[in-house]
Amino acid sequence: MKHKKVVAIIGLGYVGLPLALLAKQKGYEVIGIDKDSQKVKKINSGISPIYDKKLIMQVKNHSIYATTKFSELVNADIIVICVPTPVKGKTPDLNPVKNASIQIAKHLKKGQLVLLESTVNPGVCEEIVIPILEKQSKLICGKDFHFAHCPERINPGDTKWHVGNIPRVVGGYSVKCLSLAYKFYSSIIDAPIKKMESVKEAESVKIVENCFRDVNIAFVNELAQSFSKLGIDVVNVIQGAATKPFAFMPHFPSRGVGGHCIPVDPYYLIFYAKKHGFKHKLLKEVRRINSQMPHYTVDRTYEALNEAKVINGSPPKIAVLGLSYKKNIDDTRESPSYEIIKLLKQKGAEVRIYDPYVKDKNNAKNLSEAIDNADAVIVATAHSKFRKITPQTLKKAGVKILVDGENAFDKKAFSSLGILYKGIGR
Ligand SMILES: NC(=O)c1ccc[n+]([C@@H]2O[C@H](COP(=O)([O-])OP(=O)(O)OC[C@H]3O[C@@H](n4cnc5c(N)ncnc54)[C@H](O)[C@@H]3O)[C@@H](O)[C@H]2O)c1
Repeated sequence: MKHKKVVAIIGLGYVGLPLALLAKQKGYEVIGIDKDSQKVKKINSGISPIYDKKLIMQVKNHSIYATTKFSELVNADIIVICVPTPVKGKTPDLNPVKNASIQIAKHLKKGQLVLLESTVNPGVCEEIVIPILEKQSKLICGKDFHFAHCPERINPGDTKWHVGNIPRVVGGYSVKCLSLAYKFYSSIIDAPIKKMESVKEAESVKIVENCFRDVNIAFVNELAQSFSKLGIDVVNVIQGAATKPFAFMPHFPSRGVGGHCIPVDPYYLIFYAKKHGFKHKLLKEVRRINSQMPHYTVDRTYEALNEAKVINGSPPKIAVLGLSYKKNIDDTRESPSYEIIKLLKQKGAEVRIYDPYVKDKNNAKNLSEAIDNADAVIVATAHSKFRKITPQTLKKAGVKILVDGENAFDKKAFSSLGILYKGIGR
């Protein structure tokens, strides 16, 4: 690189922080901007605000400069927006994207390239973000500044696929915008980058990917509920079907989906399509099926408590293991574990919780404290540490029931030692 270009990353979370570190490693000057001053302080002291082995090492070794001040954008050549896109109930909440855009617009300069990586429904860039940038700055997109959308696909906790090697798609506001964005991503990412014909197409790609996951998971979650009534092990069936080398992609049932993407993004498309006169009946049903899986998990638990004749007047003692939405990470956003805990408490159970990755004031000190003398253990998140639980571990702790929320355990091994095993569809 002839001279060091400056990249400003707005939002230093699960998406923005790895991207900032990658850009720094690839030789860019990096400014990280986040509204959370505690996060900024930590990063500037070389401490990762996210519990992830790789990030912890990287933040320590490749110091990146973080700030809460958007005024520092004057020094940037490229600005990347990585702020959250949550929902309020079932409605998209674009306030973080709007607020970040307003702040950028105040400092926008001619020649800068603005990129949005946050997941948004088609239309957000051209109908919301670009108008905000143009109005406040009095600059014209495609002429005075450049804009493109490159949705992030990072999969936290994945050791194979990371920000540096996941293929990307990019859509530009103009041909020049697209080529500038392509050049930037090619300089940091070691994977194919597909040029889309428009920003809207790029926005749609990401939403489609996550709706696809939601739909497929809902299908197997429904099968799980049907097959457990039929006395058929759904996991064995899916593994059998997966031997077909074409036209089948295995997905597995569980206690529900979580995280900032799958339970959230479909609502962005449902909302936008409705505004334009189309009702996504399938996606709505899919959301309904997946969001009721914690109820199913609690029903399975009570089925087992009744079968084991544990319900005898005093509240059953139930340990819920795992609070994050998926294994080996600390992200609890939209995690089904909290719904399971809430439902168990509503039923009057005495609930203990434990997750070695998550800070929670109610966390048990360790696994033994959580499971000792519990009537039932629900493994809600199958962290690698929990997968080491054996039938003997439970037997020794006096546990009678294992509810396997992610179908991660050997059903026969537990049953043969007298532990009542209930999986999700097995
Ligand atoms: N987490 C994932 O696995 C993942 C994967 C792919 C895409 N995405 C998408 O990427 C986007 C970011 O997700 P995330 O998981 O990194 O979120 P996050 O909550 O981990 O991080 C977002 C950061 O943005 C900061 N922020 C919020 N509003 C701000 C503002 N106005 N100005 C400055 N900083 C602001 C927050 O303080 C936070 O640190 C979302 O659209 C999400 O859907 C997430």
